[in-house]
Amino acid sequence: MKGIKVEIKPGIFWVGVNDRWKDLFEGIWPIPRGISYNSYLIMDEKPTLVDTVEEPFSHELLENIERFIEPSKLGYVVVNHMEPDHSGALPALLRVAPQITLVCTAKAKEMLKNFYGIEDNIQVVGDGEEIKIGAKTLRFYGIPYVHWPETMATYVVEDEVLMPCDAFGTYGALDGGFFDDEVDVDYYIDEMLRYYANIVSMYSMPVQKALAKLEGLPISVLAPSHGPIWRHDIGRVVELYRKWSNWEGDKGVALVYGSMYGNTLEMMEAVARGVVKGGCSTLRVYDVSRAPFSFVLAECWRWKGVVLGAPTYDTGIYIPMDNLLKTLEHKRLRNRICGIFGSYSWSGGAAKKMQEAVEGLKWELVEPVLAFASQPTPEELLQAEALGQAVAQKVMED
Ligand code: FEO
Repeated sequence: MKGIKVEIKPGIFWVGVNDRWKDLFEGIWPIPRGISYNSYLIMDEKPTLVDTVEEPFSHELLENIERFIEPSKLGYVVVNHMEPDHSGALPALLRVAPQITLVCTAKAKEMLKNFYGIEDNIQVVGDGEEIKIGAKTLRFYGIPYVHWPETMATYVVEDEVLMPCDAFGTYGALDGGFFDDEVDVDYYIDEMLRYYANIVSMYSMPVQKALAKLEGLPISVLAPSHGPIWRHDIGRVVELYRKWSNWEGDKGVALVYGSMYGNTLEMMEAVARGVVKGGCSTLRVYDVSRAPFSFVLAECWRWKGVVLGAPTYDTGIYIPMDNLLKTLEHKRLRNRICGIFGSYSWSGGAAKKMQEAVEGLKWELVEPVLAFASQPTPEELLQAEALGQAVAQKVMED
């Protein structure tokens, strides 16, 4: 982004990049509107860079830095997190600026060696430790497992700027706006939820610990390493992180179903009608085979109610539904109100196995679990409607 200079506080600049080329983040998650890798340059007696960008954008990062300073004049590069979307440009940077001291946690030091063979000029910092870089002071907070074990957040004490890397990050490139008061916030909040559900969610308990550690810290700018920089409504995103990491869902239902020949689909329509009759109009229906998995996962994280319906397949759970349940377990989503329905042709399987999976998730199961043979009867459709109604009532009264 030649010619664009974004100052987030006096002497602190965004020098990151937009990745508009990647289709799948981590090779899994679709990013139809790209993603940004935010890197921050702090101009002081010892100019300091906080986080870098993914390797293919190394050249662009160097150009962005050069608009302020020769990279050979950089004093420190702070490595908050070693995932290569933030550390990938380090080798290129060190080739032109070998004088740099890298600042990171002890765990990140090991990873620097393992990822890049970097072993020299590393200053390990502990939790709460500070480095004076001139007029400004950097303080480091260990926030392990947000997103990897080595992760830390950097705080510029005098400016009250917190750089927490992945935490509060979003999918979506920065389209001309860099701050929350310059962008369509609701779009980025949706993408923050998807980023959370896809990338961070397994570590919800470490997120809770990080929030508790940083509570009370004055923050005037929250500058994550993906997506917008928050300065207008920081409280909103902190509250969302509190909520998501505590598995608190909004009042609504994600109804996720699979169907091969339309019979489970017919059942789903009856459940959906019941949800609405039960007083819940915030209902989102997803075909588990067709809806992008990344978005379905985020919707399960968003809503208090999750209803699952699928046919039996090879005596087990319909494969796309099985994948969803396994991923929900992997990501450790808790605290949902759940209804289950499933079909079978000659021997049951799906409904019972879905029930076992949901019991493993420790969700509140709304009885009865409905299993029907081949094609639902009018009576079974009424039972499906009643199930939807019961789930909705629990969700709305909760
Ligand atoms: Fe944006 Fe965990 O890397």
